[in-house]
Amino acid sequence: MSVDWNERYRTGDTPWEKGEHHPGLPFLLSTHQNLVESSRSILVPGCGFGHDAHLIGEAVDGDILGLDLADEPIRQAGERSRREKTSWVVGDLFEWEGEYDLVFEHTCFCAIPVDRREDYVTAMASLIPGGGHLLGIFFLNPDHEGEEGPPFGVTVEELHKFFGSEFELAWSQPPALTFDSRAGDGRELCMLWRRKDH
Ligand SMILES: C[S@@+](CC[C@H](N)C(=O)[O-])C[C@H]1O[C@@H](n2cnc3c(N)ncnc32)[C@H](O)[C@@H]1O
Repeated sequence: MSVDWNERYRTGDTPWEKGEHHPGLPFLLSTHQNLVESSRSILVPGCGFGHDAHLIGEAVDGDILGLDLADEPIRQAGERSRREKTSWVVGDLFEWEGEYDLVFEHTCFCAIPVDRREDYVTAMASLIPGGGHLLGIFFLNPDHEGEEGPPFGVTVEELHKFFGSEFELAWSQPPALTFDSRAGDGRELCMLWRRKDH
């Protein structure tokens, strides 16, 4: 069953929303400081209220686009944003066009239907030119108790299978910090994927 994201935001059914950026993001940005700072255009798909994009905006000088299907979080992100070079747009990542040096992924891949994962990789491959990067905090194991996703879990092997056709892995490590609700071994993995030149 497909998710009505606008309805989820309207009714406050947003367990992913923590009111802040991912706690591991500052470490991730400093670990990849040169890469992040040299990125002239950055896309944050499925950005929600934009906490991660806001923090990235404090670390870089380039253009940032926060993209989400749902209009309410995008409206609120825009209201809070004081950064000229960040834009907030309601749109579907599967239909989005553009060229980005860097895409930051966090709880978007796990939110899309499992049967669209290849489409997600195709979309990212078309948005990131050869040599560009996708930096992600992947939610591997949502640890549901009998409930269905989203979020939908994924294994590291599956991530390699999906992304490996268009990207090569440059770096990966569990996040240095995370939300209490996601604490535990093997639940999240940070990965830096470099778009192949082909
Ligand atoms: C689980 S939420 C995560 C939001 C944000 N990344 C965070 O961590 O707070 C997933 C987000 O992806 C958005 N989304 C789902 N499918 C999308 C699509 N095809 N294009 C753009 N955004 C999408 C939803 O509206 C939702 O805001």
